[in-house]
Amino acid sequence: MSSAEVSAVLEMRAVDMEFQLGGLVGKRTTLRALSGVSLRLEAGRALALVGESGSGKSTCARLLSRVYSPAAGQVLFRDGDVAPLRGKSLDAYRAQVQMIFQDPFGSLNPTQSIAYHLERPLKIHRHGLSSKEVREASEALLLQVGLVPAAEFLKRRPHELSGGQRQRVAIARALSVEPSVLLADEPTSMLDVSVRLGILNLLEDLKQQRKVASLYITHDIATARYFAEDTAVMYAGHVVEQGPSEAITANPLHPYTQLLIESVPNPKNKITGSSARRATDIPLWTAESRGCPFASRCPRVTDICRETMPEATVVGDGHTARCHHL
Ligand SMILES: Nc1ncnc2c1ncn2[C@@H]1O[C@H](COP(=O)(O)OP(=O)(O)OP(=O)(O)O)[C@@H](O)[C@H]1O
Ligand SMILES: [Mg+2]
Repeated sequence: MSSAEVSAVLEMRAVDMEFQLGGLVGKRTTLRALSGVSLRLEAGRALALVGESGSGKSTCARLLSRVYSPAAGQVLFRDGDVAPLRGKSLDAYRAQVQMIFQDPFGSLNPTQSIAYHLERPLKIHRHGLSSKEVREASEALLLQVGLVPAAEFLKRRPHELSGGQRQRVAIARALSVEPSVLLADEPTSMLDVSVRLGILNLLEDLKQQRKVASLYITHDIATARYFAEDTAVMYAGHVVEQGPSEAITANPLHPYTQLLIESVPNPKNKITGSSARRATDIPLWTAESRGCPFASRCPRVTDICRETMPEATVVGDGHTARCHHL
């Protein structure tokens, strides 16, 4: 089914996000961290958000979990704007939309047992459970994330686990409130290569079995397609290309996406001088900036690129790109 036929669980529509920079000594600047970003998360599917450091990926996750509010545009959960949510309805929303971070250690309390981390949200979310039922539910969660024997892991503290095991605990805790959305911000990038696949397989099972809608933030466009059906490529706060992951990796059309794919380390390809040379910093984008943010690095740049950012052009089934020279 193409994505246009399925209703989104969580969606960003034409979102702008701004941060005030400088102040005290320097001149104040308004950083336009996101410009007109639209993303859709659907039940049982994953969207990979790729792009280099500073492109705005984590900012999207924070907007979706309503840590930030957009300067313009909307975040919609099951078609309802999340901006007016307050108090209990905001708590309920935040339970539905769970974040998993790069550093599982940072999101766990080092002085508390794993049992504490799971039992607390269970008691709040499913009040009325007896202590025995809470313990059983905690064990079932650990079993689901592959931490067995569960009774043994419940007793331990975060530092008594490996990095991969800690990330499994963070995922179990996110699941304890039965969320409909998981926002995973580089969930495997701090883990040893050997345990990354296990975590991705776990996220894949949750997507399929629980029909969780997932956002998967990663620097790694090449492996994104193994987990995520769809990919959105960001550059300086703009989504420059978006569509089915297979199409994006097999037939990248935006010059930035092509650069990303070309730069994927591959023993068969030599790293070309041109792509290595162009790996400079993303421009500081402000409300006054004009044109395509990739213009300063783009091999296809012409005058129009410095003047206007084109709208998205449909280049295939559900596949769009924003470039004057497609
Ligand atoms: N709270 C903030 N105040 C000011 N600027 C911010 C804030 N949060 C993010 N930014 C800026 O917004 C831009 C996007 O940041 P973001 O963290 O979303 O990037 P990212 O794509 O997640 O990068 P990385 O891959 O390094 O995690 C960056 O220029 C960053 O410095
Ligand atoms: Mg980030």
